[in-house]
Amino acid sequence: MNEIRLHDKIFVPFISADEISRAVRRLARQVRKDVTDNPVFITVLKGGFVFAADFAKHYDGPAEFDFIRVKSYRNTQSSGIVEILLDITADIRDREIYVLEDIVDTGNTLGTILDMIYKHRPKSVKIVSLFFKPEAYKKDYPVHFVGLEIPNKFIVGYGLDYNELGRNLKDVYQLKT
Ligand code: IMP
Ligand code: MG
Repeated sequence: MNEIRLHDKIFVPFISADEISRAVRRLARQVRKDVTDNPVFITVLKGGFVFAADFAKHYDGPAEFDFIRVKSYRNTQSSGIVEILLDITADIRDREIYVLEDIVDTGNTLGTILDMIYKHRPKSVKIVSLFFKPEAYKKDYPVHFVGLEIPNKFIVGYGLDYNELGRNLKDVYQLKT
C-alpha cells in the first residue's frame, strides 16, 4: 500500500482490508448473538454503504434493512450541524433496531439519528459502529458494538470520504500530518 492523494491532501495506509474484514465478521457474529427478534438494520448513508453490504453478507439470520442519510462534515472537521437528507421509511414501531454506522466521531450525528429513530417508538435501539474515535466522542449514549477504536485523526476509505473522494478504497488511509 502506498500514499494516495485526494483533492489537496495526502493520506497514508492505516488499516488493511483484511483487518477490516475480520472486524466486520466479528461484529456480525456479536450482533447475531444479541438479537432476540427480527431486527431492522438502519444504515447511515452515505458512509455506511460499504460496511452495511459486508455486514449483511456475514450476518446469518433473518433481517430487514432500511437507510437514512444525514450530513455533518465539511472538509476534515465535524461541522456540529447535522442535516437530515433521507428519513426512515420502514415501519419500526416495537422493532429491534440496530444502527449501522461507518464511524462515530464527536457523536453529534448519532444524537440526531437517535432522535429520528426514537420518534417511531421502536422496542430497542443499539449502535453498531465499524470505527470509533473515543478521544473525539463528546456524548453519553453508549456505542454498543465497535469494530475498531482509532485515534482522533481523519481517515478515508471503505465508505469514508474526504469531500466525496476515497469511499471506494478497500483499505483505510489516514491523513498525513
Ligand atoms: P460525528 O457527528 O462527529 O460523530 O461524525 C460522524 C460522521 O462524520 C460520520 O458518520 C462520518 O460520515 C463523518 N466522519 C467522522 N469522522 C470521519 C473521518 O475520520 N473520515 C471521514 N468521515 C468522518
Ligand atoms: Mg456516516
